[in-house]
Amino acid sequence: MTDGLDGVRDHYGATGLTERLRAALAALGSEDQILAPRQLAALDQFHTRGLAATAELAELAGITAEMSVLDVGSGVGGPARFLAATYGCRVTGVDLSEPFVDAARYLTERTGQGGRVSFETGSALELPLDDGRFDAVLLQHVAMNIADRARLYREIRRVLKSGGRFATFDVVLKGGEPHYPVPWARTPATSFLLTEAATREAIEPAGFRALAWQDDTEAAKVWFAQLRESGPPPPPNLGTVMGPDVAELAGNLGRNLMEGRLGILTALFEAAPI
Ligand SMILES: C[S@@+](CC[C@H](N)C(=O)[O-])C[C@H]1O[C@@H](n2cnc3c(N)ncnc32)[C@H](O)[C@@H]1O
Repeated sequence: MTDGLDGVRDHYGATGLTERLRAALAALGSEDQILAPRQLAALDQFHTRGLAATAELAELAGITAEMSVLDVGSGVGGPARFLAATYGCRVTGVDLSEPFVDAARYLTERTGQGGRVSFETGSALELPLDDGRFDAVLLQHVAMNIADRARLYREIRRVLKSGGRFATFDVVLKGGEPHYPVPWARTPATSFLLTEAATREAIEPAGFRALAWQDDTEAAKVWFAQLRESGPPPPPNLGTVMGPDVAELAGNLGRNLMEGRLGILTALFEAAPI
C-alpha cells in the first residue's frame, strides 16, 4: 500500500489559489475592508453540509473560549475562523497543501482574525506540534485521504491533553465501490475509505474512548438533493478553490450517498490518559 501523500498533495495543488481568491473577493469590497467569516462560507467550508456541519461538530465537541483547538486538514481555514469567531477560542490549522495554507492565511487576514487563528503546512501523520498541547482536535472530511489511519489517530492523541476531545466528521464506506471523481480524489489512488466499524477499530486503540457516534447520512442526502435542485451558490464558491469540475465531484459524492455506497459519520472521543 502506498501512502498516497504526493497524489493527495497534487489533488489539492490549487495553483495560484490566493490570487484567484483575491480577484474573486474584490466583489465583496476593497482589500482593506474586514470581512465577516460567514461571508466566506460558500468557499471555505470544504465538506458535506458546509457551515451547518462545522457548527454542529463544534457544539458536539463542547468548544469554549478558554480552549486551544487544532483543526487537522484545515483546508482554506473556514472551520478554524468560524470556531474563533463563534467561541473566542484560539485555533491552529495544519494542512498538507501549501496553496491551501497560503490561502487560509490570506483569508484570515481579510477577516482580521490573525491574533487567534494560525496555519501551518504539515502532514497529519507527522504534526509539527508539541505533545499534549490542545484541548480539542477537529478532523472534517480528511481521513478518507489518509492510508495510515493508525498513525493519523495516534498523532491526534499525541497532541491532545488527557481528557481532551477529538471530534471527527468523515465519509465512510458503506455498500460498494464509489463512483469517481469525488471531492477528495479524482481516482481511487488517493482515496482510503474505511467502513464505520473499521474507523472505530482504528481510533480506539490510539487512546480514545467514544462519547458519541452518529450516522449522518440521511441529513447529507437531503442536503445534496437540495444542492442538486438549487445549483451551487453564486461565486466566489468552492469552484474558485477546486476548479470548474467541483459540481461534478460533489454530484458524485451525492450519488454515492443516495446509492448507499458511502455514508457520513460524526463521532466524538475523549483522549484517555497516556
Ligand atoms: C475535503 S478538504 C477539507 C478541508 C477542511 N477540513 C474543511 O472541512 O473545510 C481535505 C483537506 O485535507 C487535507 N489533507 C489531506 N491529507 C492530509 C494529510 N495527510 N495531512 C494534512 N492535511 C491533509 C487536504 O490538503 C485538504 O485541505
